[in-house]
Amino acid sequence: MNADHKKEIYRETLAELDAVLADVDDPITAMATCVCVLHQKLPYASWTGFYRVVAPGLLRVGPYQGPLGCLEIPFDRGVCGAAARERATQLVPDVHVFPGHIACDSAARSEIVIPIHDPRGELVAVLDLDSHQPAAFDDVDREGLERVAERLRASLGGDPAAFYIS
Ligand code: SME
Repeated sequence: MNADHKKEIYRETLAELDAVLADVDDPITAMATCVCVLHQKLPYASWTGFYRVVAPGLLRVGPYQGPLGCLEIPFDRGVCGAAARERATQLVPDVHVFPGHIACDSAARSEIVIPIHDPRGELVAVLDLDSHQPAAFDDVDREGLERVAERLRASLGGDPAAFYIS
């Protein structure tokens, strides 16, 4: 897919997220909605989802679309762990040469993982996308997904427990 087409997809994605997340501050609702929009819009993504920080140094799977993902990832393992540990986007054109890559889906060939912060600046999750195509993700994806992460930030401040009806 050429760069202009990708940029257009991210423009549409951000506009859709702006509209649909406008009044949302439940993190699960926000993550599930974001995953749905991204997975529908990006034809080269085979797995799109979140791993949440649930304890110091530990990620656990959150809302996702695609084949079964592994349930927990320590910060010292995999591409997701590297993104969480380094608080930095990991762009991996060939997962087979990434030391410690975790192959949840043996057909995955490339991957991108973006750190996700809440309104206070705390790392709360990572956003992970896999593709069956080699080098499917590039700097346009990095920029687009980092913007998505920035857009999501405002919707991650709520306490999910506050939404229970007592
Ligand atoms: N490949 C990831 C694991 C998660 S799956 O891709 C869904 C990693 O190496 O962290």
